[in-house]
Amino acid sequence: MLIPYFYCNDFCIYSGDSLTLIDQLDDNSLDLVFADPPYFLSSGRKMDIAGRNVSFEKGVWDRCRSVEEIDNFNLQWIRAVRSKMKQNATIWISGTFHNIFSVERILVDNGFKIINLVSWQKSNPHEIADGQHLTFSTEILVWARKSLHGRHCYNYELMTQLNGGKPLTDVWKIPTPSSWERKCGKHPTQKPLRLLYKIILASTHAGDTILDPFAGSCTTGIAANLLGRKFIGIDQSVEYLSYGIRRKQEIEDPVIADKYLKKMSENPEEVTVMVNHCRKGLKEKMIETGICYLRAGDSKGSLCITPGFERLSYVLLHTNGEDCQLFKLKSKGRFNIWTKETLEEYGFQPSHAPYYIVLHFDNTKPIPFKQLPNLKESSNTYIAKIKPLSDFMGIK
Ligand SMILES: C[S@@+](CC[C@H](N)C(=O)[O-])C[C@H]1O[C@@H](n2cnc3c(N)ncnc32)[C@H](O)[C@@H]1O
Repeated sequence: MLIPYFYCNDFCIYSGDSLTLIDQLDDNSLDLVFADPPYFLSSGRKMDIAGRNVSFEKGVWDRCRSVEEIDNFNLQWIRAVRSKMKQNATIWISGTFHNIFSVERILVDNGFKIINLVSWQKSNPHEIADGQHLTFSTEILVWARKSLHGRHCYNYELMTQLNGGKPLTDVWKIPTPSSWERKCGKHPTQKPLRLLYKIILASTHAGDTILDPFAGSCTTGIAANLLGRKFIGIDQSVEYLSYGIRRKQEIEDPVIADKYLKKMSENPEEVTVMVNHCRKGLKEKMIETGICYLRAGDSKGSLCITPGFERLSYVLLHTNGEDCQLFKLKSKGRFNIWTKETLEEYGFQPSHAPYYIVLHFDNTKPIPFKQLPNLKESSNTYIAKIKPLSDFMGIK
């Protein structure tokens, strides 16, 4: 029987070689596999990056190997993991040109159905100045289903809503891990929590079991647990696993967990919601006309357009925290400044200011939402606020 190296609340890790340990997991037990295997790109070679001579060496486990050796390694772990996946389970595998063609071929040869190739576009890549290469700014993720036929979990509605009503594309722009993600130790190839957040949210349900056979600092486990999923991780390096254990211990504190969940779900491109209090009669009039307005500026008359306005895609109308309705704006990030007189022409009776910010929304269909953040959290419920759409989607 497999003895965990560490276990704590839905976070179970094994220390050792995945090529032998995976076989000992229960058959047909996994809902999702995320694997960030060795890319086999480490050569010890140096490159000029922004004027610095940077070594391409991640560790012995990542050293370049022959095509046959890479194929053999990928074949062994992919075959082993396949029998542990439920019939409708899916697998995500990351890579670059060094390993990804091998991975893709082995998946197909072993009966997987490729669903998508996702490009992770790093928003802050190291610029390469060796005069021989384009700057490497992407990694590829293959998403595949165990069975050729049948349906797998893709939370299409949720991902579309979080993407501002447009179906999510296969190019994801996400920065490399930030310092708050590396406080417990620096893994040389750590993945950003934001990437795992998106993968797990897109392709699992709460309570599902996720395996990462090359867990490293357990980014997958941290994202999984923060989203209410169970994690099994394997890595041969106890040093890397110790970073993961510290990260898990950190998120056992609910305040830290909440903070990280917020940070992880922050998406600099996520669409936002204008949360706007209005009296009952006024709310009805707004819905009737598809026009929402708010005062432009504070009492001194300055215009307050805060960050997030450019991503506004929804408006939530409420009356002092009650009777909330969510609508989609007719165009993202667009607003007009109207005079009091123009609003009067549409039957409104604004009385507080000479100018107003006006948002046009689709009044024909309120958008369902799953949860409501506390609209009375600040001292003044009546001030319009901009919130990320994920606050309404029941993720947290
Ligand atoms: C690309 S890193 C994974 C990093 C991880 N995604 C993270 O965010 O920290 C690959 C990991 O695979 C581990 N590894 C390589 N070969 C292995 C093997 N045969 N069995 C178990 N772990 C292995 C390495 O120790 C390394 O931590």
